[in-house]
Amino acid sequence: MTPTTAAATWQLTRAEISDAQAIHDLVNTFAAKGEMLPRTMAEVYENLRDFYVVRDDAGATVACGGLHILWADLAEIKSLAVREDLQGHGLGQRIVNACLEEAHQIGLSTAFALTYRPGFFEKLGFTQADVMTLPRKVWGECYRCPKFPGCNEIAMVRTL
Ligand SMILES: CC(C)(COP(=O)(O)OP(=O)(O)OC[C@H]1O[C@@H](n2cnc3c(N)ncnc32)[C@H](O)[C@@H]1OP(=O)(O)O)[C@@H](O)C(=O)NCCC(=O)NCCS
Repeated sequence: MTPTTAAATWQLTRAEISDAQAIHDLVNTFAAKGEMLPRTMAEVYENLRDFYVVRDDAGATVACGGLHILWADLAEIKSLAVREDLQGHGLGQRIVNACLEEAHQIGLSTAFALTYRPGFFEKLGFTQADVMTLPRKVWGECYRCPKFPGCNEIAMVRTL
């Protein structure tokens, strides 16, 4: 759970209240570049118990991502972000794997993500799907988004 490089030890753990600001900042840094959807502090707090984070050896929160249950058979991997200078070290993969393991443990059968990085999710066993095959997501949440219906995020689905 804690791979070490010459530079740092990275600890994967459940998010705590003290991670909330860093989660918000990580997500919104990429959102400002159009790479993912923004989140408010209220959304971060309301969903904090969904989140895993990775902390470096100084305790800084350097990556985040959450598993959000939508229904009996369906959960979404949301707000996945790895600090830019630490990408490519397996941190994103560790967070997704933690989400998938938890989803499986609690009896969910399908996980999905909406993303501009389909290649990353393909590496982790997800396959591309038409977002309209996820009606609970589209009509429960997407339709309220300012980007709807013109969003070009790609739906990636994995059976557990
Ligand atoms: C996408 C993101 C989370 C990936 O995290 P990461 O820590 O850099 O990725 P990892 O190092 O865990 O990569 C795991 C594998 O996926 C591959 N991979 C990573 N990004 C990829 C991409 N964009 N396309 C194809 N493969 C990719 C890696 O090469 C690695 O493969 P390997 O095991 O064969 O070496 C990260 O780049 C990020 O935060 N991007 C900006 C925000 C974003 O787009 N989030 C996704 C929103 S759902």
